[in-house]
Amino acid sequence: MSTPAIEIEGLTKDYPVGFWRQRMHRSLDHLTLQVQDGEVFGFLGPNGAGKTTTLKVLMSIIFPTSGSARVRGKSIDDVSMHREIGYLPEQPYFYDYLTARELLDYYARLFGFAASERRERIIRFLERVGLGGAADVQLRKFSKGMLQRVGIAQAILHDPQVIFLDEPMSGLDPVGRREVRDIIHDLKREGRTIFFSTHILSDAEMLCDRVGVLVGGKLQGVGAPREIVSMEVYAMEILFETPEGHPLPNSLAKSATQVGGRYRAEVPEDQLYPVLDELRRCEARILSVTPLRPTLEDYFFKLVARDKSAPPQLVEVGAR
Ligand SMILES: Nc1ncnc2c1ncn2[C@@H]1O[C@H](COP(=O)(O)OP(=O)(O)O)[C@@H](O)[C@H]1O
Ligand SMILES: [Mg+2]
Repeated sequence: MSTPAIEIEGLTKDYPVGFWRQRMHRSLDHLTLQVQDGEVFGFLGPNGAGKTTTLKVLMSIIFPTSGSARVRGKSIDDVSMHREIGYLPEQPYFYDYLTARELLDYYARLFGFAASERRERIIRFLERVGLGGAADVQLRKFSKGMLQRVGIAQAILHDPQVIFLDEPMSGLDPVGRREVRDIIHDLKREGRTIFFSTHILSDAEMLCDRVGVLVGGKLQGVGAPREIVSMEVYAMEILFETPEGHPLPNSLAKSATQVGGRYRAEVPEDQLYPVLDELRRCEARILSVTPLRPTLEDYFFKLVARDKSAPPQLVEVGAR
């Protein structure tokens, strides 16, 4: 098998806390994870889970307490690795009075592109993220979605093979989120590896080959979204209408709820046929029968709820 795009081994980060900074708060606890070449990997977790900390360690913005990581086989300590990756920080701050073109020109210079190449590349990447018409508009006039897209253009300007995005959809409306999803889809089609953090589960479900769920600094589960949530059906949902004036069958009298002139009921799988028979007897019209399966959201909430009962992790300085 080829070298994984990202290999994280036992990554741990403690931050000093308290007035005297004599205690350490463990924000990341022995994270071990691999992302394969060409995968879109969703790094999920509630606020404070340690997602940004992980990305900052991988970007060498902060140093790990222990553990190591490699991207495309190169250690994160290796400066040359950083030329091959793209990064969108969680809340990118760009100087308001620059235009999109000027901002990207600044980054393109950092990457050492010559003037003619910079000109061509900047317009090509602005078009790619749907900002071709806004090249000469100052960033202070950009919407949040436009800023996020210019941030993505910055992250991919040098054609990196591995791209790290910290909460690329946060704060965006459904249209903005869709635009960012489409950009990520395009990058995947080109064979790039994308590692992005999010707390928006529906986006992760739509985009990711695999997800990892981080809670309280610990990785709680990794897998394809459909794999990690159990595929077991937990109930059957029945939507039906009853003829005018007909009472509900006894078995549903308590549990069915009325929505918009029709009824909705959830019944255990083994009760489905007896309940359908009763509905037939009272001449109900069945609109749909749908098996209910747990979603990524149900799975996520279960993990988060389990962690809430655990005390915060404090370690003595001596244990550093
Ligand atoms: N510079 C810091 N000093 C002390 N604690 C920090 C620092 N940065 C983050 N933390 C703590 O580390 C934990 C993880 O934070 P973060 O990585 O930002 O989570 P996420 O991105 O998943 O919301 C939180 O408890 C946060 O308060
Ligand atoms: Mg964060």
